[in-house]
Amino acid sequence: MAELPSLCALCLDVVKDQLLHDSDIIHEVYSFPPELFNCLLPRLSPLALQKLEDQMPDDFGSDCEPVTDKRKRKRNSIFDQSWRTLYMCRWPCLDSTTHGEEDKHKYESVDDWQQFYWESHIQSCLDAAAEISLLPSYSDRVSVRDLEIPDIILKYLFGKGHALDFMNDCKKLSWHCHKFGLYARSLRLRNVMCVAEICDLLRNSKLETLELRWMKAQEHVQGLCKLLFQINGSLTSIKFMHCKLSSGFLNSICNSLFIDSKTHGLQHFSITASSILEKDSCIPVGFTSFLSSGRSLSSLRLVDVGLRPNSARSIFSALIDASLVVSVLDLSDNNISGCFSNLRWIRGSFEDSSFGLGKSLQCLRILNLRNCNLQVSDANALKYALIHMPILEAIDLSDNPIEDEGIMSLFFFIKMSEQQFHLVDLKLANCELTCFGVNQLLGVLSTTIKPLNSLSIGGNDLGKNVGAPLGRLLCTGIKFLDLEDIGLGSPGFLDAKEEIKKTLEVVHINISKNRGGIGVAEFLSKLIKNAPSLISIDAGYNFMPVEAVPVISSCLKSVQGNLQHLDLTGNNFGGMSVLPEFHIKGKLVVNYDSSPPLNAPYDDEP
Ligand SMILES: *[C@@H]1O[C@H](CO)[C@@H](O)[C@H](O)[C@H]1NC(C)=O
Ligand SMILES: *[C@@H]1O[C@H](CO)[C@@H](O)[C@H](O)[C@H]1NC(C)=O
Ligand SMILES: *[C@@H]1O[C@H](CO)[C@@H](O)[C@H](O)[C@H]1NC(C)=O
Repeated sequence: MAELPSLCALCLDVVKDQLLHDSDIIHEVYSFPPELFNCLLPRLSPLALQKLEDQMPDDFGSDCEPVTDKRKRKRNSIFDQSWRTLYMCRWPCLDSTTHGEEDKHKYESVDDWQQFYWESHIQSCLDAAAEISLLPSYSDRVSVRDLEIPDIILKYLFGKGHALDFMNDCKKLSWHCHKFGLYARSLRLRNVMCVAEICDLLRNSKLETLELRWMKAQEHVQGLCKLLFQINGSLTSIKFMHCKLSSGFLNSICNSLFIDSKTHGLQHFSITASSILEKDSCIPVGFTSFLSSGRSLSSLRLVDVGLRPNSARSIFSALIDASLVVSVLDLSDNNISGCFSNLRWIRGSFEDSSFGLGKSLQCLRILNLRNCNLQVSDANALKYALIHMPILEAIDLSDNPIEDEGIMSLFFFIKMSEQQFHLVDLKLANCELTCFGVNQLLGVLSTTIKPLNSLSIGGNDLGKNVGAPLGRLLCTGIKFLDLEDIGLGSPGFLDAKEEIKKTLEVVHINISKNRGGIGVAEFLSKLIKNAPSLISIDAGYNFMPVEAVPVISSCLKSVQGNLQHLDLTGNNFGGMSVLPEFHIKGKLVVNYDSSPPLNAPYDDEP
């Protein structure tokens, strides 16, 4: 026989249902003894919880925790816990292994679960409404605000078993937006939602972050501009994806971002996987003035938007002339070879620092020019630009055929300029470099710049002779090293191993696809013993023979530290089992091809 519910549970269920209909009961609920109150909260549906919290008496909870700031009090309170639980019930991806880390990071930054719950709810409603309006059966005559929210969403709000038909209004998108829109700080809108009515739907929302998808038509751009006008005081970040923005559209959008005639408050502007500007034209005047009037603009991303040399040059020109403080500039995945020639800074020389150009670039910390089809000649021109970026910390030039000559020209120039440079993160994967160029580069870097924090030179055909210099580089305190597919071979790894003579600070190293054979095992055993901070190693596809297994197993036995991930897939262990031999303290996942379990965490602590 099923267990009978207690009398208390039955009463609380009655209270729970009453709360939705009858406001008088709220006062009674707040005078419940704490034990009873705490039993009731987890039973409440989002709507009931909202109603209860909206009418919280001023002195509630003040005897246990004398906090005057209501917001703070709420955050600490059991209400916040209840909102978190409701969120997790509705969007339960925290436990899934695939999103685990990402979600964990996202959830750690949540400081108000009530806000986060309703923001996510509004997003779900907008997404559902957009889906419906795309159905062939959808009639244009249905106004966006009257689009019906699916029952499955409503059930979450009212709780299980609740009759949904007593309030017809709540089926409409507008009811949700008007009631909970004030909690939305960050939203994603599809083109179809960017119509004139969106301003009314989001009239309560103080949006800070807005992401737009599939914007292509005049009608939607107009709707968006109205919305931007409405939220001009709160918006700090805007992002476009999969859009087609002509110069005219870009002009209108930029013009709508101004708070008054002179300034805008945007901090992040991003367009990705879209097409902007027809042919290879200069950027339109609206965008130029947007760039030159944003005192607060700190990141600009125009990634994979079909920029060509002239349009890219006009962006750089605008940045040179502007007095803003962009710290992140990302123009990756555009074919812009030639864009640095004829720029004004070419005429200035680094001895003449009073030239006054590139003021805005002086704050640049991160420059991403990955996959821009940059050649030797571009590197030759780019070096003059680097002079105007004295605090640049990270540069990504991967996937550009820059070659040894380009790289050496770039970095010898930096050395010659005798300026204080801060470059610590360097990505030069797939740049058609050779051992000669990389060895020269490592030499320059070790004399001019602070020790590198990270270096990526994967996908260059470097060969075994770079082994010893890389071993020495490891000893400089570098933390992240990507050496995938550089043809080190077994001798290269053995040379690198010989150079390891001290405690290393390396955290992540990627040495996959290097035909390293037994040399990898020898290298790893020295590395693991000497690098207590090491968290992950990717050593897959190295033709490691079966003889490598005992070498790796024995060094793993002595692991004390933080190592969490060791990838050994794609080696020739011939079915030999590595895992059972390991006796490891802490948490280590070893991936290798053999019998399962492949991804199971290996943890011998109870
Ligand atoms: C920004 O918004 C405020 C208030 O909504 C409005 O008064 C002002 O005209 C707007 N400015 C621009 C340039 O749109
Ligand atoms: C990049 O542009 C050049 C012409 O400027 C063209 O020859 C080349 O094919 C383009 N590369 C790609 C990957 O589109
Ligand atoms: C190793 O480097 C390659 C190329 O950069 C990358 O695709 C791969 O994800 C890296 N492996 C790890 C474990 O980071």
